[in-house]
Amino acid sequence: MGAGIGRAHVAGYQAVPELFQVMALCDIDAERARPLAEENGIPRVVTDLAELCRMDDLDVIDICTPPHLHFEQVQQVLAAGKHAICEKPLVGSLREVDELARVEKGSGRRIMPVFQYRFGHGLQKLKLLVARGLAGKAYLATVETAWRRRAAYYEVPWRGKWATERGGALLGHAIHAHDMLCYVLGPAARVFAYTTTRVNPIEVEDCAAAALEMADGSVASLGVTLGSAAEITRHRFCFSGLVAESNTRPYTNSGDPWTFVGDTPELTEEIETTLAEFRPLPEHYAGQFYRFHEALRCGGELPVTLADSRVSLELITAMYYSAETGGSVSLPIRPDHPRYASWLPQT
Ligand SMILES: NC(=O)c1ccc[n+]([C@@H]2O[C@H](COP(=O)([O-])OP(=O)(O)OC[C@H]3O[C@@H](n4cnc5c(N)ncnc54)[C@H](O)[C@@H]3O)[C@@H](O)[C@H]2O)c1
Repeated sequence: MGAGIGRAHVAGYQAVPELFQVMALCDIDAERARPLAEENGIPRVVTDLAELCRMDDLDVIDICTPPHLHFEQVQQVLAAGKHAICEKPLVGSLREVDELARVEKGSGRRIMPVFQYRFGHGLQKLKLLVARGLAGKAYLATVETAWRRRAAYYEVPWRGKWATERGGALLGHAIHAHDMLCYVLGPAARVFAYTTTRVNPIEVEDCAAAALEMADGSVASLGVTLGSAAEITRHRFCFSGLVAESNTRPYTNSGDPWTFVGDTPELTEEIETTLAEFRPLPEHYAGQFYRFHEALRCGGELPVTLADSRVSLELITAMYYSAETGGSVSLPIRPDHPRYASWLPQT
């Protein structure tokens, strides 16, 4: 549902046709959905989620609508007895993500937030090396998200505003790169962040810098801008056993090639031997949907969970609160925190 980035989701499902069949498209703007349906042989186009919910032959509804709609729509999907897949940012607060966890428990259905960058082969290779114990102790991670967004991007009415986009570059753009960091190292324990709006005349931030102490004791630095004429995303993880560095393609830097340098020639050799065993699965959206299908089939953990989404939104909440108050913020963030119910800065 939602024929913007929904187009890339359709391509993701079409890449694993033995697992999924896209039966219907929903968009309040039927003119936007119709060409996408025609190009992909999708038989039904509707304009209201309630119509999708009434279709008995759907198992899953995938939500690709603007962020402020997700919380209600995910619940509507579960109430209709279907699994919900939902684009980032899943919801607008930690209270809402905790509420969805309660709703999911009682529903017998699953909710899967989308973090498709996780499934690039480069990042998956690092996960393999970590799982095999070759990385060792984490020291430092540096993450740079330097993208370019011009005025035309903000012509879509929900973008650039706290009420509907609910955040800027930290929430809407760097969220993937920061999820990749936590996917490898686990959650942050303490956060200090600066945010500013310098690139476009919008309400929300378009540049940010943050310093993190991770729960594992290592440290990380995050740099974010939407004003970079040359776009890159870069991850560099420095461990006792190896250094891992991503490529810098802005939107697919989790894919190959990544470089892995062992701390000794023996470790480098072990890394090479281990990577020779790497079994490539589908990447990006197709990779997440493939793993979703596997999890449902085997009853296992989803490739991205509500707990993962909570870690991501907790980091967002902490960064916004730090930027607002000028102090560092300790995690986890519990219900008694002033921004538990909404990370929006209080004006
Ligand atoms: N994972 C990623 O890499 C990625 C990339 C882009 C966008 N997104 C996320 O996807 C979501 C959508 O972003 P977008 O760029 O496609 O936005 P968009 O505005 O281009 O598209 C959203 C579509 O949803 C439709 N829509 C709005 N309200 C609806 C409703 N009530 N019922 C049905 N359809 C409705 C709109 O008509 C529009 O066609 C956002 O949450 C965004 O953050 C994720």
